[in-house]
Amino acid sequence: ASPAETYSTEKVHESANFLKSKMGSVKPKIGVICGSGLSGLGELVENKIIIKYTDIPSFVESTVPGHKGQMLFGQINGKDVVCMQGRFHPYEGYPAWVVGFPLRVMKLLGVDTVLATNAAGGINPDFKVGDFMVIKDHISFPGLSGFNPLRGHNDESFGPRFPAMNDSYDKKLRTLFKQCASELGLDNIMREGVYCNVAGPSYETIAELRLLLKLGGDAVGMSTAQEVVTARHCGLKVVACSLITNECILEYDSNKTVCHEEVLETSKQRAQKMESLVSKFIGKL
Ligand code: 6GU
Repeated sequence: ASPAETYSTEKVHESANFLKSKMGSVKPKIGVICGSGLSGLGELVENKIIIKYTDIPSFVESTVPGHKGQMLFGQINGKDVVCMQGRFHPYEGYPAWVVGFPLRVMKLLGVDTVLATNAAGGINPDFKVGDFMVIKDHISFPGLSGFNPLRGHNDESFGPRFPAMNDSYDKKLRTLFKQCASELGLDNIMREGVYCNVAGPSYETIAELRLLLKLGGDAVGMSTAQEVVTARHCGLKVVACSLITNECILEYDSNKTVCHEEVLETSKQRAQKMESLVSKFIGKL
């Protein structure tokens, strides 16, 4: 049997070269990934050059409502950026390496720092809907169980076979991010915690959420960890922030439930605050 299908070096270079031919004089050192309902972060980009994923070689379609499926080049708060309006998830049917692929492309474009956002359910009982959570660390269930984006042939031009992940969420950047939140008067909604990445697309059962709580999780979602693993492997610095869009139901007698509409509704309500925070943060990088 041949090894698992994975990145091909040529394909990453082909995508990057295509984007370089389109991005004009923009020299992005910062990559931004917009989470569910947070595509509005893309509105921050000035002098936008828009490229649809479907036009980029080796890119796939982003099939989720709330994800636009395009890449933007331009400036946020004076800094050149590349911005992904919409990301890829394993639950769409994509292998883990496809989910991580754009991070390698960003690396080739000259990016050194990635800011990822996502929508997540709050597991920590102290968290409220609408809170922001800077990610301190993650638990990736797909990663732990074989669906690691680095599985298969290791491309040494990007990074080592066995990369460390203990320092994935850059401490200085986390501090800076929280400082920006402070300056915007957002201390009361700013949290820090552990993001649990599950495969989805079904939301979790009560027993599963209780398990995540016991394991030390503060929030749960279906993205980000695979992108972070790919980014860290190739030496990109990472800062990530969850928007707590809904509370996780941990009690059997609860009459609440969770749905994607609620997730998008909370994102809509908090979009402006997230945009101010991201803009301020990028200005300070
Ligand atoms: Cl409750 N679970 C998961 N897996 N993803 C989410 C979520 C919950 N809320 C927003 N995204």
